[in-house]
Amino acid sequence: MTLKAMKTNKTFNVVKKIIGKRIPSNSTVQTKAEDISSLILHDHEIIKKLILVLKDSKVGITKKKSAYVQFEEALSTHAKAEEESLYVHMKKLEALIVKSYEGDVEHAIASQLMKEIDSLKNTNDDLWMSKVKVLAEITDHHVKEEEKEVLKDARKEFDLEERVEIGREYTKLISLLRGGQNEKNIQTTKIPKLARGRISKR
Ligand SMILES: [Fe+2]
Ligand SMILES: [Fe+2]
Repeated sequence: MTLKAMKTNKTFNVVKKIIGKRIPSNSTVQTKAEDISSLILHDHEIIKKLILVLKDSKVGITKKKSAYVQFEEALSTHAKAEEESLYVHMKKLEALIVKSYEGDVEHAIASQLMKEIDSLKNTNDDLWMSKVKVLAEITDHHVKEEEKEVLKDARKEFDLEERVEIGREYTKLISLLRGGQNEKNIQTTKIPKLARGRISKR
């Protein structure tokens, strides 16, 4: 078949149309799942569900204490991994540095409150509930702002490949902090060469 004949051949054009369509491969799907933005959103969903329990005045102290154990573990490990992966890379870029410091400050406030809550143990349930409610409100505000502004800006400043590299760092840190629970998700993590040449001039 000549080239001209091929171009007018119906079967050839149908095959070309099918081959030319960009069907996402499994590796593309995997890549999106490893994007730091997706990983953070996933962890935020767990944290937000627990916040609803902790803020609910109809929920009793026993159920709240049980939810708080999960909340404290989820939040403290998430915040630490976030600081040591995403925030570290944000600090290399002029456009993101201030937001990363704001995140650090909000994490530190939450961490201080968690220490105070732990020190109360079972001595004063009313004070315990008040501090937990304030912590839940602060965290609620923080995660929503992070989703609306920080992740949006991070998606703008870091391309997908960079976000996957940060995501792999995050997964490794989470796995270490949570005692290997995420082991299956660990990739051979190389230290990213991110933002080379884009380092802030500060
Ligand atoms: Fe955060
Ligand atoms: Fe977060």
